[in-house]
Amino acid sequence: SQVQDINKEKTAKAKNMAFAFDIDGVLAHGNHAIEEAKVALKMLNGDNELGIRIPHILLTNGGGKTEEARCAQLSEILEQPISTDQFIQSHTPMQALAEYYETVLVLGGEGFKIREVAENYGFKTVKFDAIMVFADSRDYQTDFQVIMDLLLAEDGKLLTKAKDPVATRIPIYFSQGDLLMPTDHKGLPRLTQGAFRISVEAQYKTLTGVDLERVVYGKPERATYTYADEVMKAWMEELHGVSRLPENIYMVGDNPASDIIGGNMYGWNTCLVRTGVFQGKEGENDPNSPANFGVFNNVLEAVKAAVAKEL
Ligand code: G3P
Ligand code: MG
Repeated sequence: SQVQDINKEKTAKAKNMAFAFDIDGVLAHGNHAIEEAKVALKMLNGDNELGIRIPHILLTNGGGKTEEARCAQLSEILEQPISTDQFIQSHTPMQALAEYYETVLVLGGEGFKIREVAENYGFKTVKFDAIMVFADSRDYQTDFQVIMDLLLAEDGKLLTKAKDPVATRIPIYFSQGDLLMPTDHKGLPRLTQGAFRISVEAQYKTLTGVDLERVVYGKPERATYTYADEVMKAWMEELHGVSRLPENIYMVGDNPASDIIGGNMYGWNTCLVRTGVFQGKEGENDPNSPANFGVFNNVLEAVKAAVAKEL
């Protein structure tokens, strides 16, 4: 019948779309779920007119605990199952670095948890072939000092001082570059890892006269999006039995300087929400990195608009 034909067509279209969600400021504030996010995820998990699951991955610049621990916590607060197979946090793609470095200094987050993350990724011991900042520092003074000590040391050997610190410097990686994050400090975004990195760069430049070479992961860096493609393909396979990228990917984010600029550069449809870092008024888009699909009051409105456009 005609109704069946329409449903068949809509199902085909539904299988050609997917979402990438930012977490902090879109699905949650810190450890508190945003109510509309629960409804949006439920809808995408099959509570819709077609009864079909629409793939969505979570792409966050957050971090500091294992993927398993964070997904368990998110599943609980959002009241929807979140699999590690649909989850990318800032340091997840850095797992690939375990092939190159045995022994790394890992900083950020709470000490024990971050060590567990690094060991899960395959880093063996914690000596120093490289420095990796995985999450926000909990102790700026100590972390600054130990980073400078190592950057100025002879080939990563603590308590030494290099004759030519630039030539023998070990590499330094940061898991993300955001200056601000929303968290649950309502109305006033907080400084995050980007602020820490700028300070490290300034200290190094002042001490040596040379710019610090460093690698940054996370949104909006390209490496994170290429990693997201792989996760998206695998998740498409899991949900629809086809390992390919859908044509229409919607990124829903709250931070124009990471979520939106990154999604725009990568050819995704971008939706900016008003529940996080972005504080624009009704009808306003971000002047520097405008969302190409639109600005929405919350994630549910964005999801509904995207689904209405595609189906
Ligand atoms: O910037 C730090 C982090 O809390 C941001 O998380 O989910 O908004 O990328 P998210
Ligand atoms: Mg965010």
